[in-house]
This record gives sequence, structure tokens and C-alpha cells, in this order.
Amino acid sequence: MPSRRNFRPNFRRNSRREFLSFLAASPLALAQSGPITDPKDALNVLDFEEAARRAVPIAHFAYMTTGVDDDATLRANREGFRKFQLRPRRLVDVSKVDPSVDLFGTKWPSPIYICPCGYQKAFHADGELATARAARAKNAVQMLSNTTSTAVEDVAGALGRAPWFQLYAPSQPAALEKLVRRVEAAGCPVLVLTVDQNGGRNTETQKRLTKADTRVCTNCHQSVPGTPDDRQNRQNRVMLAGIDNTGGSNSPSMTWEIVDRLKNLTRMKLIVKGLETGEDADLACRHGADGIVVSNHGGRALETGRGAIECLPEVVAAVSGRIPVLVDGGFRRGTDVFKALALGARAVGIGRPYLWGLGAFGQAGVERVLDILNAELTLAMKQCGARSVGEITRAFVV
Ligand SMILES: Cc1cc2nc3c(=O)[nH]c(=O)nc-3n(C[C@H](O)[C@H](O)[C@H](O)COP(=O)(O)O)c2cc1C
Repeated sequence: MPSRRNFRPNFRRNSRREFLSFLAASPLALAQSGPITDPKDALNVLDFEEAARRAVPIAHFAYMTTGVDDDATLRANREGFRKFQLRPRRLVDVSKVDPSVDLFGTKWPSPIYICPCGYQKAFHADGELATARAARAKNAVQMLSNTTSTAVEDVAGALGRAPWFQLYAPSQPAALEKLVRRVEAAGCPVLVLTVDQNGGRNTETQKRLTKADTRVCTNCHQSVPGTPDDRQNRQNRVMLAGIDNTGGSNSPSMTWEIVDRLKNLTRMKLIVKGLETGEDADLACRHGADGIVVSNHGGRALETGRGAIECLPEVVAAVSGRIPVLVDGGFRRGTDVFKALALGARAVGIGRPYLWGLGAFGQAGVERVLDILNAELTLAMKQCGARSVGEITRAFVV
């Protein structure tokens, strides 16, 4: 092979076809090849990000992509995976591998689930319905955000079963009870209480990028997002319709008492989402939680925290098998998922990857994202010599 510096193509001697293939393989052409235009063309889930950036209005993409402050926790979620390496075992018969998992008595074909993400109609006209149809096609768990742009009853229709419902707890007991009763009536088997947004946040990247959007917000929105008027209008959002939530949700005065209250209020399984420490994991168990999601809200809550994968070992150790531990934050590869399973997670959530798929291609994009990650996980299992999720033990990571 000639070195790049010494390589001088002789186009006078070579044919036009060779010249064209030289151009196509040049770094310049590759850089200009542009984003994928069909979900089938994606080689990995990151390929969807640029396609979504082009398809989604910049102010909405800003909401999707942002972390907080300097986005350090957002980056830590990705960098964390580099701190763990895989230890493969050889000569295991991996002609068949089974990535299925049991969650609260239901068997799912994959441990990869869809995280609750708000306002999905901001990314695609079909919003949560497209996500639900994809989750139905792939038989994946869908957690529906409390700030969904589509009612839980309609999402249940598209999904073919009720989703797991993520709750931002209203502070007034009457409002909390009304919302919980509605979610129960829709048939949701699991309630996911998010506890990492009670102190407010500074989504600077969102604010910066939004300035580049020259459209008039009030052409589509009732009020300009983020303004006091908008906060007033939250009262009308789809899951709060008919509920007096003047006390607001996610009160900074919330304590573990909310977990006790919810356990008394409902028979739905209760998961606490947004824990990062062994101490809190232990408290969650003591207060009767049925599960935990280790999460920093995709780097959208506290700045300069650890990557979610780095928090997982201490949470798993503190829980000590009492309840299932789930995790999300920065998962982009099957090997990332494999590492989390090896560190003791029962299931792994994805947020932005499926939002990129949704924003760029709707349902087909979400399906392809799930397919790619599941194929990569199966490959990692084969390469490591683990035939089932049960066989993925701590010995596979160092
Ligand atoms: C645009 C967006 C909206 C989100 N909305 C919610 C929400 O309403 N409720 C919630 O508990 N988490 C929400 N999250 C956090 C996700 O559930 C999840 O924790 C996070 O996205 C996982 O990280 P990842 O995006 O790197 O995969 C949101 C995340 C994003 C990117």
C-alpha cells in the first residue's frame, strides 16, 4: 500500500471510473456524504443524530440535545463507559443467545427499553404514537413521560397495552391522587417516580441554540416556552387536564415521604428514577420501592456528576438483590448495554437515540434504533461467551 503522502493517482492513465471511485473514497467526499436519508442506511445509532438535527426545528432539537451548564455530566455519561473493559470467555457454544429479561413477572425479548422523554410531538408530528408503534413492533417496554404530548389512553391504544408511566409528582395531595387514578385506570402496570428534577436546572445549551431559531413560537405554541405565561399554560397539558395543579409538581420540599404516600395510594409497581448513590438506593428499598433507575436524567439535572454507568456498581451493591436496578444515560452501543448488565443492571434505557430516530424518520427510525442496539447486544454476548442475560456476570467487566 502506498502511504497517503506518496500516493499520486495517475488520472491520465486510469479510467474515468477509477477517478470517480478515488473521489468517492477521499476524506473530503466522506465528510460531505451527509446524513443518512433512510433508516436502513444507519450503521449505528449515532448516525441518526445528524439526520435528526436536520429534520427537527433547531429550538426543538436544542431541547432534545441539551445538558446543563457546560454539559459535563452529559459528556460523563459517554466517557464513563471507557472506564470499564470487557473480559471475554472463549470456546463457549454461542450459536444461540437469548437476551430476554424478566421485569415484574413479564418476559421481554430485550433488556433495552424506551426512556420517558417529554413533548415528542416537538420532534415528529406523530410523537409518542410513533414511538409506541415502534415499541409494539419490537415488543419493547415504553415508559411514557408525564409531560407527554399525547394522552396515556391514546398511547396505550397505539402500543397495544398500557405503557409504564413516569410521574412528576404534583405537590397537592388531591392533584397527585387524581393523576395516579387516571394512570391506573389506563391500565399502566408500573409507575416511575422521577426525583432528580426537584431543584431546578440550567439548560444553557438549549438557550443558546434556541436563539438560532427565527420562527415565531406563538404560531404553534400557546405561549413562548419558558416564559411565566407558558408556566401558567402547563396547567392545560394533556396529563393534567381537569386537575387543579396550581401547587405545581416536583416541589423542592419533596422527601422520601412521597414514596410512602405513593405505595399507600396505588398497587402499581413503583420505581424511583434518578438515583445515583448507594445511600439513596438503600433508602428506596427501605421505603418499599419495587425498583430503581440509576439515572442523571441524561445529564439534564446536576452538572459535574458522574456518568450513570459509574454510579451503577455502588447502587447494585447497596441494593444487594432486594429489587431490580435499571439504568439509563449515554447508552449508544450494544457493548455499553452489556457492561451495564455485567455490573448488575436488569434493564437499560435509551433516551436520545430513539428521539433521533423519531425526529428523523418517525416510527421507522425508532424501530431501526432498537434493531441496531439489539443486534449489537447480541453480538457482544456472542463475542463474550454469554448465552443469556443471566450468564452476564460481574466477571465480564474490569
Ligand atoms: C428530550 C428529553 C426529554 C426528557 N424528558 C424526560 C421526562 O419527561 N421525564 C423523565 O423522567 N426523564 C426525561 N428525560 C430523561 C430520560 O428519561 C433519560 O433519563 C435520558 O434521556 C437517558 O439518557 P440518554 O438520552 O443519554 O439516553 C428526557 C430526556 C430527553 C433527552
